[in-house]
Amino acid sequence: MDPQAAFTSSGPANAVYTAEQLEQRAAELRQRFPILRREVRPGVRLVYLDSAATSLKPDSVIDALAEHYRLRSANVHRGIYTIAEEATAAYEAAREKVARFINASSTAEVIFTHGTTESINLVAWSWGGTNLKPGDEVVVTQMEHHANLVPWQQVCRRTGATLRFAPLTGDGQLDLAALEAMLSERTKLVAVTGASNVLGTVPPVAEIVRLAHGVGARVLVDGAQSVPHFGCDVQALDCDFLAFSGHKMCGPEGVGVLYGKLELLEAMPPMFTGGEMVKKVTFDEAAWNDLPWKFEAGTPPVAPAVALGAAVDFLRDVGWDFIRAHEQLLVSYAFERLQEVPGIRLLGPAPPNRSGLVAFAIEGIHPHDVAQFLDRYGVAVRAGHHCAQPLHQLLGLRASTRASFYLYNVRADVDALVDALKQTVERFARFRQRVSSQRG
Ligand SMILES: Cc1ncc(COP(=O)(O)O)c(C=O)c1O
Repeated sequence: MDPQAAFTSSGPANAVYTAEQLEQRAAELRQRFPILRREVRPGVRLVYLDSAATSLKPDSVIDALAEHYRLRSANVHRGIYTIAEEATAAYEAAREKVARFINASSTAEVIFTHGTTESINLVAWSWGGTNLKPGDEVVVTQMEHHANLVPWQQVCRRTGATLRFAPLTGDGQLDLAALEAMLSERTKLVAVTGASNVLGTVPPVAEIVRLAHGVGARVLVDGAQSVPHFGCDVQALDCDFLAFSGHKMCGPEGVGVLYGKLELLEAMPPMFTGGEMVKKVTFDEAAWNDLPWKFEAGTPPVAPAVALGAAVDFLRDVGWDFIRAHEQLLVSYAFERLQEVPGIRLLGPAPPNRSGLVAFAIEGIHPHDVAQFLDRYGVAVRAGHHCAQPLHQLLGLRASTRASFYLYNVRADVDALVDALKQTVERFARFRQRVSSQRG
């Protein structure tokens, strides 16, 4: 089964597009992203290939953010005047949109946080802190982003639980049989990425949920790189927790989501305490508010949440069928064309079993130099360990360069990347030749 399809099993039936139709649609969508109209330098167009770090924002999202500040910039759940009530209504309407977007059974299961990192920390601190004890095990995979690794290291240290790592196969897939063999009644939680931000691997999350539930363990999905690209139906997937960020799915920075099953969230203590998350406070104690507000202490990111609602509308409008088919087209094309670059090593499984990003290493050229040279051609890529240092160690690399695609990229962006890479490799070869002839 296509692992991406498992995330959207209640979504619309797959439509069939030709490559030309996908290109045409992406070209139309580009018009809605004002930043793509700017030049990096005079005569150099922006080739944005860093959407895994943060996506570009369409006009509708920028307008929703600005409109909120222009028309109803008031705090929520407090004021009894018109614009405050409008702000509250807009904030809660955004929650309803997100709940529908991930098919949560209730808005009480949708908590606004500041992003994936905060969402995972909340689960680790609150659920982990109360449910883990010495002898228990938490299983993560070897390809996790630090955001889905460090919080588990910390809570395991605090509670005495053991952190275990499901290995990868030689071609960068999750070794499902090894993960299955690790599961036992000691396993309390499996925390897994929906898509690797380095390898592009899409693990079989539906199967992992089934196996984990079979031993009574809970499953958290780090959806930072999967929700923006193939959505998530939390009821169909049956995951216990899902974390994702607004800024990677055409929304603004500063807002993210934690989904949790109602009975789990009910039993969890709040991580942050203070205003808004309480029902009644005396000098000695406090009673918590209902869900989801129990976990939203203080002033929440109101305008970003409202704009995230606009991003959800935008993505629904564009449709998963198009987004997935278009990213498959781009990543397959990129895999094919990148092979033309001398000395390149592409990381992760070959298409079609991967998401829409490609990380690579070029022999003899540091990824930071690669990224800096590409910038001369207007090509924006990410270089470094991408917050996955243990994975890079496993790959025998200190760092890599990553090109990541989204719904507004076209094949011409891949061509620009490949051309710029070839020129970079040539320049370095010439430079080395010059140095060796000077020495000789
Ligand atoms: C797989 C993965 N998980 C978590 C995160 C953290 O997301 P944020 O920085 O929005 O909290 C990222 C960000 O790149 C990611 O790629």
